[in-house]
Amino acid sequence: MLVTGASGGVGSMAVSLLSQHGYEVVASTGKEAEHPYLRSLGATTVIGRDEVMGDEGRVLGKERWAAAVDCVGGETLAAVIRSLRYGGSVAASGLTGGNAFGSTVYPFIVRGVALLGVDSVLTPIEERRAVWANVRSDFPEETVAAMVAEEVGLDGIDGALVDMAAARVRGRVLVEPSR
Ligand SMILES: NC(=O)c1ccc[n+]([C@@H]2O[C@H](COP(=O)([O-])OP(=O)(O)OC[C@H]3O[C@@H](n4cnc5c(N)ncnc54)[C@H](OP(=O)(O)O)[C@@H]3O)[C@@H](O)[C@H]2O)c1
Repeated sequence: MLVTGASGGVGSMAVSLLSQHGYEVVASTGKEAEHPYLRSLGATTVIGRDEVMGDEGRVLGKERWAAAVDCVGGETLAAVIRSLRYGGSVAASGLTGGNAFGSTVYPFIVRGVALLGVDSVLTPIEERRAVWANVRSDFPEETVAAMVAEEVGLDGIDGALVDMAAARVRGRVLVEPSR
C-alpha cells in the first residue's frame, strides 16, 4: 500500500493504521529527515516524492501499488492511478500538490482500478464517534504522541499555519487553548 504526503497528519495516521492491520506500507515523503519517523510508524519502505512519479507521459505505468491513500492530489494522484495494480483502489483525500490532475480512462477500463473520494467534513457524527473510538483502540498513546510535532497555545496558531502551508510540519499540531 502506498501512502503519499506520508509525514503529514492524514498520511501519518494512514501509515500507522495500515501497518497495524498487517499491510506492507510504502510511505512517500518530501522530507528526508522524516524517514526514521515514518519507519517508526510502521512503513516498510520510505521513498521520495519523485519516485512516485515514474512512467510520466504514459497512460499506463508499471503496476506497483495494490492500493493507495493519496493526500497530495494533482499529478501525484495521476501517477498513482496509472501505477495501481489490477483491481487496485486509491483513496483521494487532499490537494497539497494541486487540485487538478490529468488522467485517461485506461487504468479504469483496462485494470479495473477505482478512485475513491474521501470527505470528512460532512461525515455524520455517529460515524465520527465510531472512527474515533477505533482510533483510540488502534493507536497506542506513544504512537499518537509521536504524531504531535508541536503544542501551541491560541497565539501560536498563525505560526503553525505558516509552517503547515510550507510543508514543514510533521504529523499534527496540538492546540491547547489554556496554554
Ligand atoms: N477529504 C477530507 O475529508 C480531508 C480531511 C483532512 C484533510 N484533507 C486534506 O488532505 C490533505 C492532507 O491533509 P493533512 O492534514 O495530512 O495535511 P498536512 O499535515 O499539511 O500534510 C500534507 C503533506 O503533503 C505533502 N506535501 C505538501 N506539499 C506538497 C507538494 N507541493 N507536493 C507534494 N506533497 C506535498 C507533505 O508530506 P511529505 O513531506 O511527507 O511529502 C505534507 O506533510 C490536505 O490537502 C487536506 O486539506 C482532506
